[in-house]
Amino acid sequence: MKNTDSSLSTAVRFVLGLAWGADRRKLTVGVALLLIGYLSTPFVGFLLRDFTDAALRGQSATAAAMAVGVAALLVFELMMGHFAHLYYFEVGEQAGTELDRRLAALAGGGSGIAHLDDPHFNDTLALAAEDAAKTRPALEGVLHLAGLALRAAVTVVLLATVNPWLTLLPLAAVPPVLIARRAAELSNRARERTAEAGRLASHLLSLAADADAVKEIRLSGADAHLLDRHGSAWRQTTDALWAAQWRAAALRGAGQLLFAAAYGGAILVVLQQAVRGTATVGEVVLVVTLAVQISVQVASAIGLHATMAAAARTAQRFDELAAAVPVAAPARAKTPRRLRRGIRLRGVGFAYPGAAEPVLHGVDLTIPAGATVALVGENGAGKSTLVKLLCGLYQPTSGAITVDGVDLRDLPAAKWHSRIAMLFQDFAKLHLSVRTNIGIGQLALAADDTALHAAARLARADAVVAQAGGLGGMLGRGYADGTELSGGQWQSIGLARALLRPTPLLLALDEPAAALDAHAEDALFGRFAASGRRAARGAGAITLFTSHRFSTVRAADLIVVLSGGTVADQGTHQELMSRPGLYRELYTMQERAYT
Ligand SMILES: Nc1ncnc2c1ncn2[C@@H]1O[C@H](COP(=O)(O)OP(=O)(O)OP(=O)(O)O)[C@@H](O)[C@H]1O
Ligand SMILES: [Mg+2]
Repeated sequence: MKNTDSSLSTAVRFVLGLAWGADRRKLTVGVALLLIGYLSTPFVGFLLRDFTDAALRGQSATAAAMAVGVAALLVFELMMGHFAHLYYFEVGEQAGTELDRRLAALAGGGSGIAHLDDPHFNDTLALAAEDAAKTRPALEGVLHLAGLALRAAVTVVLLATVNPWLTLLPLAAVPPVLIARRAAELSNRARERTAEAGRLASHLLSLAADADAVKEIRLSGADAHLLDRHGSAWRQTTDALWAAQWRAAALRGAGQLLFAAAYGGAILVVLQQAVRGTATVGEVVLVVTLAVQISVQVASAIGLHATMAAAARTAQRFDELAAAVPVAAPARAKTPRRLRRGIRLRGVGFAYPGAAEPVLHGVDLTIPAGATVALVGENGAGKSTLVKLLCGLYQPTSGAITVDGVDLRDLPAAKWHSRIAMLFQDFAKLHLSVRTNIGIGQLALAADDTALHAAARLARADAVVAQAGGLGGMLGRGYADGTELSGGQWQSIGLARALLRPTPLLLALDEPAAALDAHAEDALFGRFAASGRRAARGAGAITLFTSHRFSTVRAADLIVVLSGGTVADQGTHQELMSRPGLYRELYTMQERAYT
């Protein structure tokens, strides 16, 4: 019972708190109308009693008045319910939207993105997203429960007027409620057990229908295989859920049988009273009416139990998610306006959450302010990971990164992010307008056409912008019928987004030339060198890029060779070519291939 109480109060507080925050006026009106409506139901029994007694005594005028009263009360109850519904429906929708907003904030929030690599976090996120869609029913549930409680209190008083023992009737409702709680637990545990398989099933299905993957899937003939795997994951989920639902339904049925026995007992008691002459026929009618109402109310309370338990779980899930999102420690230093010394990594090690092996270990590196640095190394060496650490998206698991001598962890994360211009290797392709695609690089400039065009020119994306029909043109087909771009064209848009940042301290480009043709790449790096030097003079900015193309790498001030997650060598092109090692080996290999 304790657990029921706490989960009920959690649900009520959570749902009412959301609704109150969404629209307190509409909530108040909705609750008032609903309670008035609920209150009228027990009085139907009251009027029926008087109607019966009056009719039996031959007082036709009173009987008629009572009959009209019953009809009026029923219509009144219906109307109140209808108007109340208008109000709380609206509030419930608003509360659901608020929950969606919180969910997005949790997924995208915190001081980094490490939590998004945690499968448990992702499972909880998926379940919470399902829950958020049920906020409106949950609010309705809470309000109906309040109405039912009020109605039960009135019913008890009315029953006591006939026979004090009858006040025990609502108590008979307790075992069915407890049993229903057990049933809800059963189906909920099944839902949690099958969450993983369900996620796999829907992932496989979306993969089979994914426009990006469909070419490879078609050629490899993997579509049937994917659908097979989807089918078996889906069956696994539904079989387990079906079995659990059956058991839950059987339990609920047994609970309701228990109540039916008590109901029969109550009718028997009042019938005996009537036979002995201590109760009127009207009172028999009253008890029959109220008992029917109680049974209906118990059934709805049982029905609401699952809703309440679900709402309590939603509240817990949101708490759990909030606790898992890493909170940025209070900033203890200011982000510098310009870099004076540069960025230093000391003994930096890093393992992705849940991974057994570290990706980086013992990385020692000094990147002087104003330098252009190239990170090279084989696939999987840890280049992109290092770049993400510098952006503050992940925290080193050992060692420290300092910016002008201040630990990156002590800087305000949002401020540091705002001074980084970044092109990720897996940059976002937003199926939205060109303006949004470039503009989110610096939201304050999203309406500044001159700045957007300048960034596009710098990134050699001006032709793409023109092809898409200007800044207002849509890209991709995900949302509207926009222009489809090639891989290299998408990347130039991603680059324009990065270059929109006016005064970054760190310009980080992860494989900016991966999708570019040789001509475009050459021109791009020429422009970078110029704009990088300008930024370096102004703010001591560091330009950091990773590349597998050594022709562009050689111009960097500092080349860092990563191998097996640590710095294998570093220096200028000349220095690295003067000694045997991975750099000279790879450089010579590429040069030979070209000539
Ligand atoms: N989100 C992640 N979760 C777990 N492991 C990851 C994640 N991202 C990368 N890794 C692992 O970290 C290692 C280094 O990956 P990283 O992307 O840093 O390599 P890279 O040097 O950039 O390679 P490439 O040249 O192919 O871009 C790889 O073994 C990869 O499997
Ligand atoms: Mg990479």
